[in-house]
Amino acid sequence: MINDKKVLFSGMQATGNLTLGNYLGALKNWLTLSNEYECFYSVVDLHSITVRQDPAVLRKRARALLTLYIAAGLDPEKNCIYYQSHVSGHAELSWILSCFTYMGELNRMTQFKDKAAKHADNINAGLFTYPVLMASDILLFQSDVVPVGIDQMQHLELTRNLAQRFNAIYGDVFTVPEAYIGKTGAKIMSLQDPAKKMSKSDENVNGSIYLMDDPDTIMRKCKRAVTDSMAQIRYSDEQPGVKNLLNIYCTCTGKTPEEAEREFDGKGYGDFKMAVGEEVIAVLKPIQDRVKELEKDKAYIDGVIKNNAEKANYYASKTLRKVQRKVGFPDRIR
Ligand code: TRP
Repeated sequence: MINDKKVLFSGMQATGNLTLGNYLGALKNWLTLSNEYECFYSVVDLHSITVRQDPAVLRKRARALLTLYIAAGLDPEKNCIYYQSHVSGHAELSWILSCFTYMGELNRMTQFKDKAAKHADNINAGLFTYPVLMASDILLFQSDVVPVGIDQMQHLELTRNLAQRFNAIYGDVFTVPEAYIGKTGAKIMSLQDPAKKMSKSDENVNGSIYLMDDPDTIMRKCKRAVTDSMAQIRYSDEQPGVKNLLNIYCTCTGKTPEEAEREFDGKGYGDFKMAVGEEVIAVLKPIQDRVKELEKDKAYIDGVIKNNAEKANYYASKTLRKVQRKVGFPDRIR
């Protein structure tokens, strides 16, 4: 608990351009949760270098992502918005926890297997121990809840196991975190292939709406979205393209699929897609404007970065000192 509130941790990687799926599936939930919890929202740059990065691009994207957190509505006075690399405790705790993690556990991680297959030329040790770093992110702040997608559940399970294992040996050191799976649930799929998740790493840029796409581009992508030849707007698994567009429409407007079905009853796909495009623009445009505004205010963003890194370091050190003491490292001399 911090300030009588439960603690929440989550993070995103600044690799690739964030999509509408990232916003509707994650960021939007973060906003709601930020009222209830003491939140740490990190730009997890340590994680990003498990895959080779261009340094200048990574630095730029990390700042863009941090700015986007704020532009999306997260108040940096209330939420700790910071770069993971500015808090050395992540790496320090990760080393300690790696000594309590079994090779077999990491070997079972499906994301490691996927990524190793995808980056066969660079299967580095960091890629393998990535879940330990993620566990450290979470445990470092004694987090109670962690909003994650289903694809991260296995990592969260490992985090819980590590916390319990450590606590069993050393007493109550870590809070054992719970996953928070978003209520909206609707996964946003690719506009070009509704069987695939909308992804920032998709090679087909028409499949994803990026958060910084301009209105014309958004409209064009919506109009080009793959549908079917059934000529009816129904929320059904037989029409995955239409269903996905309805999910987008409903998440943007707050309407239910039934309401949307009624609204578009008898309408053509052309009108429907245009309506979806308009709602997406209505959601993204204010965020984009705010990003542009914030980008001009370098001093403000720098201040956020500095203050929040200090805050994160303060809480991280508390946990870290305790852990270091427990495992037998000597006290510091002041
Ligand atoms: N691994 C997460 C992802 O790729 C990002 C992440 C890193 C994270 N550390 C975290 C998410 C801690 C939640 C909590 O999406």
